[in-house]
Amino acid sequence: MTKPRVFITRLMAQEALDRIAQTAEMEVWPEELPPPYEVLLEKAGDVDGLLTMLSDRIDVALMEAAPRLRVVSNLAVGYDNIDIVEATKHGIVVGNTPGVLTETTADLAFGLLMAAARRLVEADNYTRKGLWKTWGPQILLGQDIHGATLGIVGLGRIGAEVAKRGKGFSMKVLYYDEKRRSIEEEGQLGVEYVPELAKLLSTADFISIHVPLTAETHRLIGANEFAVMKPTAVLINTSRGTVIDQKALYEALKSGRIFAAGIDVTEVEPIPPDDPLLTLDNIIIAPHIGSASFNTRKSMAFMAGDNLLAGLRGEAPPNCVNPEALKG
Ligand code: DGY
Repeated sequence: MTKPRVFITRLMAQEALDRIAQTAEMEVWPEELPPPYEVLLEKAGDVDGLLTMLSDRIDVALMEAAPRLRVVSNLAVGYDNIDIVEATKHGIVVGNTPGVLTETTADLAFGLLMAAARRLVEADNYTRKGLWKTWGPQILLGQDIHGATLGIVGLGRIGAEVAKRGKGFSMKVLYYDEKRRSIEEEGQLGVEYVPELAKLLSTADFISIHVPLTAETHRLIGANEFAVMKPTAVLINTSRGTVIDQKALYEALKSGRIFAAGIDVTEVEPIPPDDPLLTLDNIIIAPHIGSASFNTRKSMAFMAGDNLLAGLRGEAPPNCVNPEALKG
């Protein structure tokens, strides 16, 4: 029996690749940079499955050019790089990697929060540049984390883990979400629901964004939202860059409308070297490393591999975004 063919768009944990290779004829893109779209298009034309990264655009044109394609397994919990409606129409199941990266991503969000509040990157640069002349009562002052109010926008899995970390630092934790959690869950997490986003933004000392990117959350935080934040506010984003209007973020940071920001995601990734955000000291910009721990990336690779293999067998992946693709 001929093996199904798969294309994997980046090198990942070898053990997970070995497992896929037992079942499928596998080609792995060996470069650091993603395959150009044209290459992906050509590869997709000849495979039964794709294992993709969030930087690979899987659109209708690609699906039309891929008559054998049955499964796209994304090595991420987010899947805004894939046209799910079209995948379903084409009978292509899509898998993602929820759960395994929740705590690792929450750790990074909280790390950014602490680093931005206490100006750690600025402080490190200050030391390295030889500016540390003495201990001074006014040098590199930041915002207190303990006892402050943390506002979480989007209390899904990752948002809830950030809430737990906030409680560990004696923070008051508020959240805004389209969907309210049950009273029991709110009690367990020790969080308080705020039904209006503007109210949450104006009350919180720290704001951490944890919504998926959708048409509704695109530029959810723009000039109007910055206008209601406290001048001492610290904004954290580990979700997707376009949830924030980046020009408005620049203005808010530059003018002192808010105190600082820590972001792991940008509108365009990687951020262009001439982006004005890079000229500011009061923002920390990480290169989309929310899930980047050794253990988590290995778990993600195994999970994405399992999703891929299930799709190749004609089954719904264990973590499937569109099981309805198999009906009909
Ligand atoms: C995701 O999984 O969506 C993250 O952005 C990358 O781990």
